[in-house]
Amino acid sequence: MRPTQAAFPATRLRRTRATPSIRALVAENTLTAGDLIWPLFVRDGDGIEEPVPSMPGVMRRSIDRVVEAAQEAADLGIPAICLFPYTSTENRTADCAEAWNPENLSNRATRAIKAAVPGITVMTDVALDPYSDTGHDGFVVDGEIVNDSTVAALVKQALSQAEAGVDIIGPSDMMDGRVGAIRTALEAHGYPNVMIMSYAAKYASAFYGPFRDAVGAANALKGDKKTYQMNPANTDEALRLIERDLSEGADMVMVKPGMPYLDICRRAKETFGAPTFAYQVSGEYAMIMAAAQNGWIDRERAMLESLMCFKRAGCDGVLTYFAPEVARILAKG
Ligand code: PBG
Repeated sequence: MRPTQAAFPATRLRRTRATPSIRALVAENTLTAGDLIWPLFVRDGDGIEEPVPSMPGVMRRSIDRVVEAAQEAADLGIPAICLFPYTSTENRTADCAEAWNPENLSNRATRAIKAAVPGITVMTDVALDPYSDTGHDGFVVDGEIVNDSTVAALVKQALSQAEAGVDIIGPSDMMDGRVGAIRTALEAHGYPNVMIMSYAAKYASAFYGPFRDAVGAANALKGDKKTYQMNPANTDEALRLIERDLSEGADMVMVKPGMPYLDICRRAKETFGAPTFAYQVSGEYAMIMAAAQNGWIDRERAMLESLMCFKRAGCDGVLTYFAPEVARILAKG
C-alpha cells in the first residue's frame, strides 16, 4: 500500500524540483545512447548520400556510406543499426525473389558492416514490400494479401539474412505464424543464436508515409495494409499478438508507431516483462522536423523529450532516426 502523503505544507513537492542537481537525483528514468537503434536506408552505388525529401536530415546511403554510418554509430555508443533497402524498380517483382537473393542490397550491406564494424549489432527487416511490385508486405492473389505462401517466402528471406550475418531479424510483415516459422528454420539451419525482434503490435498507420517515400514503395502501394496491420482502435489485440509472438520464439517485441501508442508500450511491458521496443516512425520524425524548421518548436528539446517518454512508458529502447544526433547531445552531457 502507498503511504498517505503528508498534507501541505509538510509536503511541498516543488522541493525536489528546485535545482538541476536535485532534479537529476530524483529522476526516475534516463535516456542513454545505449537505448537507441538507428534505422538506415541503403541504396545502390558508391559514395552516395541522397537526401530523403520527406525526412529532412535522413539519407539513402550506398553501402560504403552505410559502413561509415555504422562506424559512426559504434563511436557514439549506439548499440544497433537497422537496415532498410531502397530496391531498384527492376528488382521489384511479383515473385519478390530479390528478397532472398544472397547478393541483395541488405545482405551485401550486412556483410560489409560485419567485416568493418564487427562490434555493432545489425538488425534487418523481414517483409516483402521493398521487393514487390504491389508495395504490399505479402504476396497478392486476386486482391488478397495471402498469409501462408507469404510466410514461406519470409522464411527464405530471413534465412538469407541470417546467412549474411545479421544479429536481429525484424519481421515487420504482420502475417500470422511467421515468427514460429522463422524460429524453426533458424534452428534447423544452424542459426540458433540469431535473435528475432518481432514487430508484434504494428498498426495500420498514416505515420509511415515518409518511410514509404524513403524506400520507394509509396507509388507502388495500391490500397492499404488494414488486413494485416492493426486497427488503431485496439489494445487487447496488441497484447494477444505480443503473447503469440513471444510464445513462437521472439526474443524482443516492438510497438509501432511510437508516441501515439505509449499506452500499448506500457501494457506490453507490464504484462510480459519482455524486452520491449518502440519504433519512432518516419512520420513522427517528420512532424518534429517540420515544426522545428518552421520555428514552431525547439527541435533538440522535442527530440529528447519524445525519446525520454518511451523510457517512461516502459520501453527498453527505441528505433529512431534521431539516434546519432541524440547520442552526440547526450555525449556532451
Ligand atoms: C515495411 C516497413 C514499414 C516501416 C518499417 N518496415 C512501412 C510499412 O509497413 O508500410 C515503417 C517505418 C517508418 O515509418 O519509419 N514492412
